[in-house]
Amino acid sequence: MHIAMIGTGYVGLVSGACIADFGHQVTCVDKDATKIEALKNGEIPIFEPGLQDLVSRNVREGRLSFATDLNEPVRAADAVFIAVGTPSRRGDGHADLSYVYNAAREIAAAMHGFTVVITKSTVPVGTGDEVERIIRERNPDGDCVVVSNPEFLREGAAIHDFKHPDRIVVGTDDDRAKQVMAEIYRPLSLNQTPLLYTARRTAELIKYAANAFLATKITFINEIADLCERVGADVQEVARGIGLDNRIGNKFLHAGPGFGGSCFPKDVRALIKTAQDYDVPLRILEAVTSVNDTRKRAMARKVSMMFSDGIRRKTIGVLGLTFKPSTDDMREAPSIPLITALQDMGALVRAFDPVGMTHARSILPDVTFCDNAYECATSADVLVIATEWEQFRALDLRRLHDLMATPVIVDLRNIYRPDEMHRRGFAYVSVGRPTASPALGDPEAFDRLSSADKGRAAALVS
Ligand SMILES: NC(=O)c1ccc[n+]([C@@H]2O[C@H](COP(=O)([O-])OP(=O)(O)OC[C@H]3O[C@@H](n4cnc5c(N)ncnc54)[C@H](O)[C@@H]3O)[C@@H](O)[C@H]2O)c1
Repeated sequence: MHIAMIGTGYVGLVSGACIADFGHQVTCVDKDATKIEALKNGEIPIFEPGLQDLVSRNVREGRLSFATDLNEPVRAADAVFIAVGTPSRRGDGHADLSYVYNAAREIAAAMHGFTVVITKSTVPVGTGDEVERIIRERNPDGDCVVVSNPEFLREGAAIHDFKHPDRIVVGTDDDRAKQVMAEIYRPLSLNQTPLLYTARRTAELIKYAANAFLATKITFINEIADLCERVGADVQEVARGIGLDNRIGNKFLHAGPGFGGSCFPKDVRALIKTAQDYDVPLRILEAVTSVNDTRKRAMARKVSMMFSDGIRRKTIGVLGLTFKPSTDDMREAPSIPLITALQDMGALVRAFDPVGMTHARSILPDVTFCDNAYECATSADVLVIATEWEQFRALDLRRLHDLMATPVIVDLRNIYRPDEMHRRGFAYVSVGRPTASPALGDPEAFDRLSSADKGRAAALVS
């Protein structure tokens, strides 16, 4: 089957390469000439584990190619995917659908013969109707069906997720389109992946409802974490205790600095706006957004509370900048409001991220970017773990302890154990768990805290 993928970003490139790997003939199209030039030269413009190999192999075997102009690929295609961005519209939180509608106009002019146009971008209910209207208006004689096929992959595990999805949602009631969709995804249905056929509007809503539910689950456990801190309970044990209940499940119950990334924040906002337009306010989601937005900056207070005299002119090392590990995506990363708030409080921020620093440099001014975690920790008054990259899970704690001006760690991802950090002589604060302080274990480390901070550290554990 011939496929054109319009939009070659995190979703389009992964989907295009995986569909080529299924055996189809795929052209990935993007308006960004630099991106396409890089891909033609064998370079992958994003960081996604395994993508380099997958793309190279499918290019080499002649199933995957790249173009800036969609005319030829769309003309030859049996199916055209729209995988362009749908960011928040400036000012009001609605999804900005201009990229989707522009792509629809261009597809309408180029398509030839029966063509299935598939919206893979996350789009509000009713967008498929509008895409269909645009195509019919532009090309009244065209033979085309518009299908919704939302994508559920996670950055950092995108190839695995695309090839082993829990389900494939296909929104159409057209039999010819169903046949084309079944053919595209045949290797997955052979592996027993359920293809869930629904009405187009239902498919569009499934995607938003899924993301909104997961964002709610994260926000719920974050609030429970705050309560744990007050009452002396451990949120990880609470999460385990409730997650073992099959009705609840153990995923998305990790307390942290609040959700970010390229999808959850914008999708929750867009769903709230859609619901308001239909006069069905979604109050739970309104609370989720507001709690989450407040939380990210509040994490800076967690840092400043470690020092009795605040953090003005203190050096803060931040480990991890991307919104989660194994991606270079900085979109709405919690590290951004955290660092901005720390700077607003007068702190000097140093930072290190294994792959996110190229993007981070253009977003975060006045940050000193370091080459590794230890350089970031050098002379720092406090080290904040903002993203749980694998390489931060097994840091040389003795070395860290020696390098820092004061051995204070704020672990926003709960990747270390409070009792161990305590034993190693760190003042250690995490999210929703007991606090540890060096007041007991390591007199030398404790001596390096100011007298006020000694009192504070002792108070933290008492
Ligand atoms: N990133 C994720 O993890 C993820 C997961 C599931 C769904 N989604 C959804 O998928 C969609 C795409 O997200 P993304 O993260 O891949 O975005 P992205 O910004 O990484 O990529 C979008 C690409 O589309 C290109 N583009 C825009 N208009 C074009 C046009 N007319 N012709 C050709 N190319 C065009 C842009 O240049 C860009 O490279 C969004 O709706 C998003 O919500 C994303």
